[in-house]
Amino acid sequence: MTLSIRENLSTSLSHIFPDAPGLGPIRFFSAPGRVNIIGEHVDYAGGLVFPAAIDFRTHFAIRTNGLGLIRLYSLDFQSEFVTKDPIYSVEKPWANYILGVVSEAHKLGLKVEGFDLVFTGNIPQGAGLSSSAAVEVGTTFALSKIFSWDITKEKIALLAQAAENHFVGVNCGIMDQFVIAVAKPSSCISLNTESLEYSYHDLDLPGYEFYLIDSNVKHSLKESEYNDRRKEVESATSKCNKLSPEVQTLSQANFPLIEKAGLTPSEFKRATHILGERSRAQNVIRSLKDKNAEMVGKELFSCHESLSKNFQVSCEETDFIVEWFRSENVLGARMIGGGFGGCVLVLDKDGRSSSLFSKFEKEYFQKFGLNAKIYRFSISEGVREDSSDR
Ligand code: GLA
Repeated sequence: MTLSIRENLSTSLSHIFPDAPGLGPIRFFSAPGRVNIIGEHVDYAGGLVFPAAIDFRTHFAIRTNGLGLIRLYSLDFQSEFVTKDPIYSVEKPWANYILGVVSEAHKLGLKVEGFDLVFTGNIPQGAGLSSSAAVEVGTTFALSKIFSWDITKEKIALLAQAAENHFVGVNCGIMDQFVIAVAKPSSCISLNTESLEYSYHDLDLPGYEFYLIDSNVKHSLKESEYNDRRKEVESATSKCNKLSPEVQTLSQANFPLIEKAGLTPSEFKRATHILGERSRAQNVIRSLKDKNAEMVGKELFSCHESLSKNFQVSCEETDFIVEWFRSENVLGARMIGGGFGGCVLVLDKDGRSSSLFSKFEKEYFQKFGLNAKIYRFSISEGVREDSSDR
């Protein structure tokens, strides 16, 4: 955390919620956004995902206040929220990512007393880089420290996911919260989303770079469409399970089974994506190890095709971005995250991104009237305590 972020946070905290007897010391935490190299829309189907944390972070200053109140301030929205109990806020949606954590902590019997929290960050919102999961995991971790919970990083991820599922209302899988909780610098994690077993892998392709193009599309149907996809996956799973009881998740199915399980045309397409993604994820992880960038890129294109046609979570703008970069002979490109807008991940030879992007942004603006952005990133560390005043 730079000195200026730390100063900004603590000045705001003392300014908005002035010092008084009973306040605890200020502590600082931060949580990253994430990219996902491969394994998209499979983390609620027991699939294999390969995400990493990036060097875009949300920063928190927090202290106990001894008042029995939750006092929150978002520096980015310049907005304050004070409550005694974690009740969903329609007016201040940003507060729900924190209140949801408190609500889930109560369910688990974890101690939460009054606290003050101020936060700010540079993870682009609505870009598919998990800015919300960063707030949830950052809050969970910070509360676990100031209230001395005995909890592992894996359990922190599950609590943060439950906040999103039960309080915010998005039925997301475990990928985002998990990688934000456990990530290490320079490494992706390969995570089996059924068993939650995971391992760290270098992301190192000398001579090549990954970067992100933000479509700047924030799709309003994103959350309901996401929940719909999840329901289709669940209904397809239960049909497969009826025929083959050993199949507990859609990732355990196979093509002959999904053909005879009586799936609707939509369910069949979703299942086709999940099975295809299983072999693409294995192939990408192997190819990264072999430093075979061409193969990684090929699978990224093929993943996008499947997300667009089978899973139907792309949109005109992200399809355009992928095709545009393909026509410029990059190695690979695909939409990442929940979809319906957000970012496209590009893999290309080092050194071409600036000139390609300046050509691209003009054409993109002409076609859609939108300002695209480029984000270069490095692989970063998961949630952490940055420093403390104690
Ligand atoms: C969002 C969700 C994740 C995952 C991705 C798609 O980021 O939060 O759980 O489902 O979409 O892979």
